Amino acid sequence: MTGPSSPGTDPERSPAPPHPDGVTGRLLLPALSRRRALQLGGLGLFGIAIGAPGWGPSTGLALAAAESLAEPETLHSENGLLRVRLKVAETTVTLAGRSAHMLTYNGTVPGPTLRLRPGDRLQVELVNRLSVPTNLHTHGLHVSPKGNADNTLDVHVHPGESFQYDIQLPDDHTPGPFWYHPHEHHLVADQIWSGLYGGIVVEDAGPEVPVTRDRVLVVSDTTLDDDGHPVHVSEWERMKGREGRLVLVNGQLTPTLEARPGERERWRIINTCPSRFLKLRLDGHQVDLLATDIGRLAEPRRVDEVEVLNSGRVDVLVTVGERTGELRGLANPRTRGGDGPSGAPGTLATLQVSGSPVPALPPVPAYPQLPDLREVEPAAHRTLVLGFDWSGGGPEDHGDGQEGHGDGHGTGGMVMTIDGRPFDHARTDQVTRLGTVEEWTYVNHTGMDHPLHLHVWPMQVVAVDGRPVEDVVYQDVVRVPAGGETTVRIPFEDFDGRTVFHCHINDHEDAGMMAVVEARTG
Ligand code: C2O
Ligand code: CU
Ligand code: CU
Repeated sequence: MTGPSSPGTDPERSPAPPHPDGVTGRLLLPALSRRRALQLGGLGLFGIAIGAPGWGPSTGLALAAAESLAEPETLHSENGLLRVRLKVAETTVTLAGRSAHMLTYNGTVPGPTLRLRPGDRLQVELVNRLSVPTNLHTHGLHVSPKGNADNTLDVHVHPGESFQYDIQLPDDHTPGPFWYHPHEHHLVADQIWSGLYGGIVVEDAGPEVPVTRDRVLVVSDTTLDDDGHPVHVSEWERMKGREGRLVLVNGQLTPTLEARPGERERWRIINTCPSRFLKLRLDGHQVDLLATDIGRLAEPRRVDEVEVLNSGRVDVLVTVGERTGELRGLANPRTRGGDGPSGAPGTLATLQVSGSPVPALPPVPAYPQLPDLREVEPAAHRTLVLGFDWSGGGPEDHGDGQEGHGDGHGTGGMVMTIDGRPFDHARTDQVTRLGTVEEWTYVNHTGMDHPLHLHVWPMQVVAVDGRPVEDVVYQDVVRVPAGGETTVRIPFEDFDGRTVFHCHINDHEDAGMMAVVEARTG
C-alpha cells in the first residue's frame, strides 16, 4: 500500500503535451494549502492563473485541493417513468475553474444524470437551440433503435426544433453506468468536445450493493482557447483522434472526494472523451470491479488498474484506506509502438481521507453470471475490416476545404472505412436474424487501435489477436489492436431494426468508420 505520490517525483507523470503554438504546458504555481486555495478560489485568482499560456493537465495538482467533487443534477425515474426536457444550447459555464463557452444539456457540463431502473420508460424532449443539427443516443442501453426510441439513423433535430424520444428499457436490463451524447454524423466529435454528454445509471434490480456513497464520475477532455471556447482541431489531430489538454471529472479539474477510512464507495466512471483511452489507478485504497460497460460480473474482482476505453464505463467499489490518495490516469497508448496518443493525464481526482474509521459494511451480494455465448453455435461468422483510404487525399492536404471522393468530411479528404466503404446511412451493410448469436471478427488494417462500438446489442469478447479470452467479458466497446483483430459474439435478441456499429474515436466515426447493421425478424 502506498500513499499519495508527490507531483514532483512521480515517474508515471509525463511532461505536459506541447501547446499547439509551441508553448510547453507547465504552470509554475506553488502548491497551496487547502484553506488558502479556497480563499483564492473565491477571489477569481484561479481563473487568471488557468488562463495563463501553457496551461496543461499536468498543472492541475496545484489546484488539487481547491474544489469538492460536484455532481451534475440527478433526475430519478418515478413509478417506472422518467420524463426529461433536455435543452441543447451554447452556454457560458465554469469549467476547470474558468469561464468557458460550451454546448450544454440544460446549462451544465456534464448534463444531468438520469437514474433509471430496469423496466423503466425514458421520455426525453430534446430541444435544439444550436445553429446546427443534433440528436440523442443512449450509449450502451439495450433498447429499440426504431421510431422515436434510440434512433440515431433517422432522427435529426434541426436548429429551433425539438423531438420527443420514448425509450423503453426491458425488465431484465443490465444495471450499471451508461451515457447519452449526440450522434449527428460529421458533428459528433465537435459536439462532445464542446460539452454534450451526460451520465445514465441503471440501478440494480436485485439486492442492493451496500455502500456508503454512490458517485458518478464523468471523465471528459477538451482544450480551450484564450477566450474559453473549445479549440478547433487540425486535420492531423482528427486523423489521430483528438485529445484535450484538460482532463476533467464532472467538469472539474482534479476535484476532491472526501471520505472516512473504511467507507465503501461505488464509483460509476464514464469515459466520454472523444478519443482518449484511460487506464486508472488508485493506490492505497482497495478497488473491486463490479462491471465493465454492460458486463456485470458475478463477483466483484480486486484490481490494481482498470482500463476504460473512450465511451466505455466501469462500475467499481472503492474501500477507503487510511490515507489520502490520488486517482491517477496512466498512459494508455493507442498505437502498437506505444508512442501514440493517450498520454498520461496524471491526477484526475484526490480521495481525501479524514475522520475516524467506520465499521465494515456487509458483503456484496452475488449477481447472476451472464450467459457464456461460446456455448452457442453461431448462426453466422462475419469479418469486418477497419481501414483508412488515402486515395481521396491525405491529412497533409488539410485546410483547403477540398473533399476527396466519398464521404471525406472533416479529415481533409482522407476517408475512414469499414470493409473499404465509408458510412452511408442509406445502405444496409449487414443483415442479421433476430434470435440468433453471431460471431464477428473486427480486423484492423491501420496502424492505430480503434475502439469498436455496437449499438443496442452487447458483445462478448472471445478472442483478441486469435488468443482466446477465458473470462466472460461483455463490453459495448472493444479495442481492436493496430494491425490485429478482435472477435466477439453478439446475441441479436429482443430488438429488430437498423442501427450502427462504428469506431468510437468520434473523429473516425465522423470520417466514415461506421456501418449499418439490421436485425430482422423471421
Ligand atoms: Cu456512444 Cu454510436 O455511440
Ligand atoms: Cu452507442
Ligand atoms: Cu478509429
